[in-house]
Amino acid sequence: MTRIILVTGGCGFIGANFVRLVHAERPDWRIVNVDKLTYAGNPHNLDGIAEGQNYRFVREDICNAQAMRRLFLEEKVDTVAHFAAESHVDRSISGPTAFIETNIVGTFSLLEAARALWLGDTWQGNQPCFLHVSTDEVYGSLGDSGYFTETTAYSPRSPYSASKASSDHLARAYFHTYGLPVRITNCSNNYGPYQFPEKLIPLTFNNARHGKPLPVYGDGKNIRDWLHVEDHCRAILLVIERGKDGDSYNIGGHNEKQNIEVVTTICDILDQKRGLLPGGRPRRKLISFVKDRLGHDRRYAIDAAKIQAELGWRPKMDFASGIAATIDWYLANSAWVNAVVDGSYRQYYAEMYGQALA
Ligand code: NAD
Ligand code: DAU
Repeated sequence: MTRIILVTGGCGFIGANFVRLVHAERPDWRIVNVDKLTYAGNPHNLDGIAEGQNYRFVREDICNAQAMRRLFLEEKVDTVAHFAAESHVDRSISGPTAFIETNIVGTFSLLEAARALWLGDTWQGNQPCFLHVSTDEVYGSLGDSGYFTETTAYSPRSPYSASKASSDHLARAYFHTYGLPVRITNCSNNYGPYQFPEKLIPLTFNNARHGKPLPVYGDGKNIRDWLHVEDHCRAILLVIERGKDGDSYNIGGHNEKQNIEVVTTICDILDQKRGLLPGGRPRRKLISFVKDRLGHDRRYAIDAAKIQAELGWRPKMDFASGIAATIDWYLANSAWVNAVVDGSYRQYYAEMYGQALA
């Protein structure tokens, strides 16, 4: 039977890359993309994917429990890939409310809709699967050594990571309590096409390209484990198709880098591809050390041995080739970056969906 997959947040960075992957590689699946189109959701991320038999877009808030329940029933959804979230740590520090609503209440509303449909007496569809997309930030902050494994105790330290940890706990509780077929993935920092330029890599690219200052928090020595978004999306597809209900899978690339290394790498690539700044200045000169993020986690590093051993997943891209390919993508798609940065994509929302934006 055709798989009917509900992708939440499919107009965001990772969700859009996932929709593109499934659309290209599982042409017999029906994708229903539900997205509220917050500032981070951009329909242009899915340009070239037309509405039809295999794809439907629904503009809706996942917190709307009734609408979610109706949609599950109407589409006979058998698979969920739940990406929709407020995802930016700095925004969670300045305004946590939306994080509590979307990340916790929204996840709850989806779990309830899935429970009502799949665990009711009348379910006759495929073996269902609820894949909850989460983050390594739920594990807290590491010192100089060690890795997060699936058994590392949760210790979230920002409003964002605390809201994601809450949603992981809820999802796991639905597996243990009701037998809902939940699987969880906890991934490290992603980079690649369509990332909103508030995150470190696209922000650095965009500022460096225009010769603007490059803000580096604190001493720049915080470490993140970078993974190309396509590798993340392939891992999620694998967990949906071959993973085990009730299990969590850590996903990471063993590409641990200090933030300052990431920023200087982008500067050097741009200098090489675009030439130095006026006056022969290298872009590294734009780096500006600024006030640190509150509660800034020092180091993340993922042990992905489980998904490698059990499902045979391995990242295809190392950081050097992945970041070069990403810079090439942003240079070739500068119209996309410009539209996001100058906000003109919001005009498109108004025209397409006729609603005032928050
Ligand atoms: P993003 O901010 O780029 O996109 C989020 C998407 O969700 C947007 O399209 C937005 O419109 C939509 N959305 C937000 N609130 C919604 C609501 N209430 N109802 C419906 N749609 C809503 O996020 P991203 O970076 O693509 O992250 C996707 C998921 O992956 C998140 O759950 C995040 O926690 C997780 N994750 C992200 C990373 C990363 O490095 N970006 C790493 C690991 C895990
Ligand atoms: O680890 C996975 C997480 O990675 C995801 O769950 C989050 O959704 C995603 O946003 C990301 O969180 P980070 O906080 O690690 O990503 P961000 O790009 O905001 O920052 C990366 C690092 O760079 C972090 O140590 C803070 C620093 N930074 C960030 C920005 C935006 C700077 O030094 N300067 C900046 O301007």
